[in-house]
Order: sequence, then structure tokens, then C-alpha cells
Amino acid sequence: MTPHETPNQRTTATAAGVYDWYLNGHHHLPCDAEVAIAAQKLFPLAGRVARYNRDFLQRAVRWMTEQGIRQFLDIGSGYPVAGNVHEIAQRYARGARVLYVDLDPDTVTVSNQLLAGSPDAACVRGDVREPEDILARAELLDLTKPVGLLLVSVLPFLPGDVSPLVRRYLARLVPGSYLALTHVTTADDERIRRRQEDVEQTYNARVRQNVHFRARDEVAELFADTELVPPGLVLATDWHPPRGYRPDPDDEANQLLVGAVGRLT
Ligand SMILES: C[S@@+](CC[C@H](N)C(=O)[O-])C[C@H]1O[C@@H](n2cnc3c(N)ncnc32)[C@H](O)[C@@H]1O
Repeated sequence: MTPHETPNQRTTATAAGVYDWYLNGHHHLPCDAEVAIAAQKLFPLAGRVARYNRDFLQRAVRWMTEQGIRQFLDIGSGYPVAGNVHEIAQRYARGARVLYVDLDPDTVTVSNQLLAGSPDAACVRGDVREPEDILARAELLDLTKPVGLLLVSVLPFLPGDVSPLVRRYLARLVPGSYLALTHVTTADDERIRRRQEDVEQTYNARVRQNVHFRARDEVAELFADTELVPPGLVLATDWHPPRGYRPDPDDEANQLLVGAVGRLT
């Protein structure tokens, strides 16, 4: 958004709006659709990557509730779409608490409209780069108890080495907490990688929050202070897949997103 635009008038695409378009959500604007379609023309797999990301998030939240986690901090939460974190968490653990955080003010407004009447979930505006600020405002959560920290497809919006930042979050959480994240990763296949670079350029030229792919090793480094839970850092589609899931060898989209969950010991 430019400084003079209100959320509903904005003419500059946002990361949250483009992602919402890919997920068939209800909160994107024409400028978001335009960028999403342009990127999809170059890279028809973009929508599938968004879907795989969301599916991982839902499976990871369910899995963490099964391990006894009753509170989640979801940073870079995006617009609410069907199967939000609090819906999944509360389906499997009644009373589970969820604090959503996003940098995009429109996302925060829409989330709080949806959450009106849900005492166990709220959304605040915050920047993932400021862990101390976010944690200081996390009154909804009890930081003396384990937390499920979700950094799902938000770190690609930060350049440089993000491992010190992740460490700052983990330093404030108690043992038994979990870190779950996904990250777009550089494809091994040269053909896919070239198309991926085109998309990165198209997207970054038009969306203020630029996206950065990271090599698998760099993503693994983010879990250095945790114990990775099986199956470790894998393609997001391979992390606790639904029963009967068979990877499609011709699916190029699933090569672009890795995910993992680590336990703080
Ligand atoms: C691709 S969406 C991911 C949404 C959700 N985590 C999911 O996986 O379904 C990325 C979100 O991160 C938010 N974001 C980007 N940079 C951020 C920052 N510095 N701090 C907090 N949120 C940020 C965007 O506004 C957007 O809503």
C-alpha cells in the first residue's frame, strides 16, 4: 500500500492478497489478482504451491495439538481462509488459544472482524523481525507453557540470514514448544529453477514484500536449536501426508516447498 491508500482502495498488490487469490479466498483486490495471474502465466504451479503450503499448516497444527500443544503463535498469518489455525486447533483441542500476527493492516482488520466473539483467538499487527515486540504483546498466550510457533511461509519475505531471528524467538519459549515452518526452496531441476527465477522477478517487481527462495541447507539451519520431529525437513507434501497419499512423480510444484516441525528441548 502507498501511504495514501486505505486497505480497500489500495492499488498495489500485497503478499497477503496474492496468496488469498491463489487459495480462492474472498479478500483479494483486483490488483492482487492481476499479479497472481501474471505470475501464474509464467509459472502455472504457483497456485498449487500455495495450496500445499496451507495443507502443511493445517496438518502441522493438528499434529501439535495431538502432542498436547494448546496455544499457537501464528506469525505472517495472512487473510483468514477456510481452515484457519484456530478452527483446526479448537477442533482437536477445545479452548486452544491462537494469536495471529501480520504486518499487513488490512489482514489484521479482516481477521479481527472474523474473530469477533472468539475469546480464544485474536490478531495483532506486528513485524516478524521484531520478536521482543510481538512476544511482549502476546497477552493471550501463557509463555510459561509450551507454544506452537508458526512461521509458515513468512521467512521468504525477509532477505539475508534469518537464523539469528528464529533463535531469538526460540530463546523466549519454554522446552516442549514447537517451531513449524515452510519455505520456498530452490528446485534441483534446472528447467524449473529458471521458471522459478522468472516468477520471483515478476512477483518482486510488483509486490512490495519481495520473496526470497532459500536452499534446503539454509532452511535446515533454522531448526538448529530444535530436535526435528520425524520425518525431518522434507517436501511439505511429504510431511505427515494424509492416509493414502501417493506422490505424483510428474508434480513439479511439490519440489518447491519444504517444511518441518522442530521441538524445543
Ligand atoms: C504467503 S502468506 C502466508 C500465510 C499463512 N502463514 C499461511 O501459510 O497460510 C505470507 C504472509 O506474511 C505476511 N508478512 C510478510 N512480511 C511480514 C513481516 N515482516 N511480518 C509479519 N508478517 C509478514 C504477509 O502480509 C502475508 O500475510
